[in-house]
Amino acid sequence: MQEAAQYVLGNSGHEVQRLMFQSQIIRPITLRLLREAGLSAGMRTLDLGCGAGDVTMLAADIVGPSGSVVGLDRNADILIAARERATAAGYSNVAFVEEAAADRGERSFDVVIGRYILVHQADPASLIRFAASHVRPGGVVAFHEVQCFGDVPSLPHVPIWHQVWNLVVAGFASGMSHPDAGARLIEHFSSAGLDLPTLFSEIPVGGGPTSPLYAWMTLTLRSLLPRLESDGSIDAAKIDLNTLEDRIRVAVTSARSQIGFAQQYCGWARV
Ligand SMILES: C[S@@+](CC[C@H](N)C(=O)[O-])C[C@H]1O[C@@H](n2cnc3c(N)ncnc32)[C@H](O)[C@@H]1O
Repeated sequence: MQEAAQYVLGNSGHEVQRLMFQSQIIRPITLRLLREAGLSAGMRTLDLGCGAGDVTMLAADIVGPSGSVVGLDRNADILIAARERATAAGYSNVAFVEEAAADRGERSFDVVIGRYILVHQADPASLIRFAASHVRPGGVVAFHEVQCFGDVPSLPHVPIWHQVWNLVVAGFASGMSHPDAGARLIEHFSSAGLDLPTLFSEIPVGGGPTSPLYAWMTLTLRSLLPRLESDGSIDAAKIDLNTLEDRIRVAVTSARSQIGFAQQYCGWARV
């Protein structure tokens, strides 16, 4: 597979926890994509940039024991976590491989899925091409991406929500080549030689005392902090990450605001 830009969110144990947390929130969106793309029992699936294995296991639930899923990631450490989780949960139809191990170009998969991976590539179209080269004729390439630029909604306006998001966007901008890849799926699929993708978009929204969005924002900033600090963009001590989630919760709740997190983009096409 092509060389990707360095993973901006790092490879710490914290990042594994963050991926698992965010996965619970966006799971229904990925599930919708997989269902609309036609994933079904008995299919063989490849999950590109599988991270801690959440999409791999979601796909494995759909394809069932008569199907199989391969999770692929270039980060050997995160694959240890993925393997442990899949084994603990009793999956017998999944396998995890490092990037080079899967670089066989075999066109045997019914569906190749990637979540939150195009934004991290030096050349998103090249990754889509790689995905297509692993799909059997008539199979499907599907991506679920996230908007890593622009603004997020809050009405009534809650300043701290936007201040923290702006730091997150600055962190993304410092280490991501294509933070807008999700909003350019038509362009990237076309550059990869594929048909116009079928698209949909959703935004995680919430508010009130129990919304998971405050934690999601805070965990994301925490993963980006080393990069922001080394850039000299922020001083972690001044942010007080330990109280940030609660401060956001109080501000949003007392304003009776409805907030949104990053827009999600999903697209799929037949090969
Ligand atoms: C944001 S994480 C998403 C993980 C998982 N797809 C999920 O949604 O929970 C991106 C993952 O893609 C991996 N990755 C990025 N570029 C890659 C590439 N070119 N080849 C293999 N893995 C890659 C990173 O190592 C990281 O684990």
